[in-house]
Amino acid sequence: MYCIAIANEKGGVAKTTTTVSLGAALAEAGHRVLVVDLDGQANLTLALGIDPNEQSVSISKVLLSGAPLPAAIQTTVCPRLDILTSNHEMANAERFLPIQKNYEYILRNAIQSLNNLYEYVLYDCPPFLGAATMNALVAADMLLVPTQPEYFSIYALRNLMDWVRMIRSKYNPALTYRLIMTMFDKRNKTHRVLAEQLAENFQSGLLNTFIAMDTKLRESPIAGLPILMHATKSRAAMQYRSLALEITQHAQETTLQPA
Ligand SMILES: Nc1ncnc2c1ncn2[C@@H]1O[C@H](COP(=O)(O)OP(=O)(O)OP(=O)(O)O)[C@@H](O)[C@H]1O
Ligand SMILES: [Mg+2]
Repeated sequence: MYCIAIANEKGGVAKTTTTVSLGAALAEAGHRVLVVDLDGQANLTLALGIDPNEQSVSISKVLLSGAPLPAAIQTTVCPRLDILTSNHEMANAERFLPIQKNYEYILRNAIQSLNNLYEYVLYDCPPFLGAATMNALVAADMLLVPTQPEYFSIYALRNLMDWVRMIRSKYNPALTYRLIMTMFDKRNKTHRVLAEQLAENFQSGLLNTFIAMDTKLRESPIAGLPILMHATKSRAAMQYRSLALEITQHAQETTLQPA
């Protein structure tokens, strides 16, 4: 089981889009995948066509009251892709989890109880380093950071690298990270310049795959379908397939040769 936290303190950088699209791409390639919605906005849940308010058990019950897995997990429209949904109750989890001793390990322990039922687990984090994101980073083998080629997005990466250092030293020494550039418009000169800067600063920390601007990605949550099913031959669908391949290789390399 290989766990990936998709996180960035910056809002609107395609964390949720990347979680659902990468999850669908890994499932399409034949892997058993679980996506976990850790955001009270429940965008991931909605993007898979599920009504957040109609679910009896959601992620906050797992984190706060130890609701058992896999009973809380649901199937989706996509074969081999399952979800642990979220709803507005996550606000309570953000507030009350830190009162519990060792709360940072709750998600990790819950997912480990699934005993390799899934090959990939993807955590969609909210845009802040609260209790949910902490749990995801402690439970992850890899942090995947969607980032736009925009000045403020790149500036926000400084804080993120501080998180990685903190999580590695306190909780999860083997955590690796990779950046994925999203919403890239190659006709835009500033994008090209900032993309070069990202590559220079992060070297192999920046994945070779990038995701271009594609309006089809804005339509697919309305249809409640991952881009791979909504517009299977679109550029974005192809790029997320290529991301899945790169992630699979990273997972194999880092689990064969730890740290
Ligand atoms: N490559 C892309 N091209 C065009 N639009 C995109 C692309 N990727 C994401 N979007 C759109 O950008 C918006 C923000 O994306 P998304 O919700 O995935 O970001 P997020 O980081 O999860 O946001 P939040 O911080 O609120 O959780 C959405 O409307 C989404 O459809
Ligand atoms: Mg989101």
